[in-house]
This record gives sequence, C-alpha cells and structure tokens, in this order.
Amino acid sequence: MKKQESGTEPKLSTKPSTTSSPALNELFTDGIRDLYWAENHLVKNLPKMISAATAPALVSAIESHLEETKVHVSRLEQIFELLGEKAIAKKCDAMEGITKEGEGIVEETEPGTATRDVGIILASQKVEHYEIASYGGLVQLASTLGLTDVAAILEKTLAEEKSADTKLSAIAEKEINYKAAEEA
Ligand SMILES: [Fe+2]
Ligand SMILES: [Fe+2]
Repeated sequence: MKKQESGTEPKLSTKPSTTSSPALNELFTDGIRDLYWAENHLVKNLPKMISAATAPALVSAIESHLEETKVHVSRLEQIFELLGEKAIAKKCDAMEGITKEGEGIVEETEPGTATRDVGIILASQKVEHYEIASYGGLVQLASTLGLTDVAAILEKTLAEEKSADTKLSAIAEKEINYKAAEEA
C-alpha cells in the first residue's frame, strides 16, 4: 500500500504505470515469448501446408498469410525492444500440438483432393483461433498495464489473424467443402 500524504488529494491515475505489479508484467512478457515461438514456428510450418494444398484460392491465402506471419515475428521483436527485454522464444506446446495435428491430416489424406484441402482449412483455422485468443488477451493486458504502444502493435496483428480466419471460412464455404462432399 502506498502512503498518502495527509491533506493532499490522492492522485488517481487512469492508466496504471508499467511498474505496477511485477508479476503481471512478467506474465505479459511470458505471453509475448510464447507467441514469439509460435509465430516463428508458423514461418517454418506454413510452407508445408502451402505445398500440401491444391485449390489456388487456398494456396494463395496461406501464401499471403505466411508473408503476414513474418511481419508478426518482427512486430513481436519490436515489442521486446519497447519492453526492454531480449527477444526470447518460449516453447508454445499448444501451437506445436495444433500444427502437428495439421501435418497428421495431410498424411492421412490423398494428395490433390478437396478433402485434404478441407482438412488443411480446419487445421489452419485452429491455428488462427489460437492466435486470436492469445493476441486478444494480450491486447487487453497491455492496456491494463498502460503499455499503449505495445497494445497498438498487437492490435494490428490481431486484425490480420481475424481476417485470415474469415478468408479461410469463405474459401471453405464457397468452394472447397462442396467439392470435397462430391469426392469419393
Ligand atoms: Fe500470426
Ligand atoms: Fe495467423
């Protein structure tokens, strides 16, 4: 508890300072390290999905999200700098599991089929939803910690994750699911 000088109004700050709650700051930085691992992992994993996919719309959607993902990595590096922390990745077991599941779907489906494409979309959307949950939570936490600049950077990535997810849904609904339903 902070001492309050008698006779003066306590100053209420609307934005908590970044020095508030070291434990919460640490939790936040840990979340950034987790995403740093996840995004770097995706830079290596997405090319596998691109070569496994068939529908041109799906291939180009993943290709353009791969480019965005590389930007996500550099935004996180920018955040580490703002936080005065070294860019250290902390292994994200969740992302490892989700991408393994995607690779499993590719192994279990026939090359060149719409069924495989549907599987790739399902797996990719799980990746996007994990990212949306992580970035969404960290945007909120950054604001709580008064890290306005950091929150703004995270929000840019969050918007791109959401639009990648929407794009994948549209591709599934408009063409690939129907095609796959007609496959033997
Ligand atoms: Fe990302
Ligand atoms: Fe993403």
